[in-house]
Amino acid sequence: MTPIIAIRALPHHVGEIVTLRGWVYNIRTSGKIAFLQLRDGSGFTQIIMTPKDVGEACWALIDTLTLESAIICTGTVAQHPKREEYELHGHDVTLVHRADEYPIGKKEHGPDFLLDHRHLWLRSGRQWAIQRVRDTIIRATYDHLHREGFIKIDAPILTPAACEGTTTLFAVPYFDMGSAYLTQSGQLYLEAAIAAHGRVFDFGPVFRAEKSKTRRHLTEFWMMDAEAAFVEHDENLAIQERLICALVAAVLSENRTELHVLERDIAPLERVTPPFPRITHAEAVTILQGKGSTMTAESDLGGEDEALIMENYDRPLFIEKYPARIKAFYMKRAPETPALALCADLIAPEGFGEIVGGSQREDDYNTLLTRIREHQLPVEAFGWYLDLRRYGSVPHSGFGYGLERIVGWLCGVHHVRETIPFPRLLNRLTP
Ligand code: 4AD
Ligand code: MG
Repeated sequence: MTPIIAIRALPHHVGEIVTLRGWVYNIRTSGKIAFLQLRDGSGFTQIIMTPKDVGEACWALIDTLTLESAIICTGTVAQHPKREEYELHGHDVTLVHRADEYPIGKKEHGPDFLLDHRHLWLRSGRQWAIQRVRDTIIRATYDHLHREGFIKIDAPILTPAACEGTTTLFAVPYFDMGSAYLTQSGQLYLEAAIAAHGRVFDFGPVFRAEKSKTRRHLTEFWMMDAEAAFVEHDENLAIQERLICALVAAVLSENRTELHVLERDIAPLERVTPPFPRITHAEAVTILQGKGSTMTAESDLGGEDEALIMENYDRPLFIEKYPARIKAFYMKRAPETPALALCADLIAPEGFGEIVGGSQREDDYNTLLTRIREHQLPVEAFGWYLDLRRYGSVPHSGFGYGLERIVGWLCGVHHVRETIPFPRLLNRLTP
């Protein structure tokens, strides 16, 4: 019995006879030689076969293999004479399943066609690479935050009220209690957990029912929220900076093959080192006005504004201290200028836009109650959240990142629909 190995392990088996199992990614045959591209999940490799090496019956099979057929192939591992590439000189092929004519071909397909076939599109080289990078980012997030003393604590998905604003909630019927809402962020629950654990993070799907049809908005996406006790605004930004640098470093070290498949220019990623530049919202407005924008001191920044500002920066930029009026109710105000919130958005370079949003939180009971009322939120629903300001309230801060935005940035993919396995968009719920 020859050992069954993964394509990724080929470099460790040069000269040996091994077995690979996977799917026919591409195949070219002439009467004399076959070049078969095999995908096995761990990677892609070329298998070269001749009638002499495989025998007549097997050659007849190879000659009729269709794209995406599943096969088992045994052969000798060889290294490319000039490159760091490995291939298999096949001796035998067994068919596991012959695929019907595959709908995704080598020709260009439109995005709608590809999204309709997302269950199959996931197999293509670029999509394979994107999901591998996504996996690295998730793993590096857990590793880095644990090193910094955070533990993972899970926030609920079914919630009784809004966190980021009431107009953007998905309601679901909840027995005889009326409606429950799909969470927009686990933040408020993490604020409860810091008094038990100090530093916590969550990671899970969140839902936004806003009717945005942009390259950066999904209705279901994955968010990581982190929250820490005794951390104020400046330290909050330093934690984010270290996390983002750790994620970029992990992808650069673990995903060279994937970045190559994606043709990602890695020079801009190698520049991602601390400290990140910081400007205030007021400074951002000045920059934008200088570029001809009609933006005012009270305006929020949209995607296009962020892109304009980022023309001046080649690494992630913090834009801090937005007018409190345009931000969430829970943000603490700057002590010297109460009209401003102690918040920041982190904007990725190269036009990828906001990837992280965070703030110091209001920790005073009466001030928070006033804000909840000002925002016309149901005070009863926030009773437990207000309680946190009654029993050992401490200064605290946190932030949340959008996984798909970070994956898009690091992969150089400009539409978030490609960065989540099965995107949910305004006009798409299948497959
Ligand atoms: O800026 P947001 O709305 O912040 C919060 O939800 C805070 N409660 C987080 C916290 O402080 N713990 O969302 C955080 C991030 C954004 O910076 C963006 O990267 C991403 O989530 N995001 C989206 N990603 C994809 N589709 C959408 N519709 C998104 N909305 C936000
Ligand atoms: Mg935001």
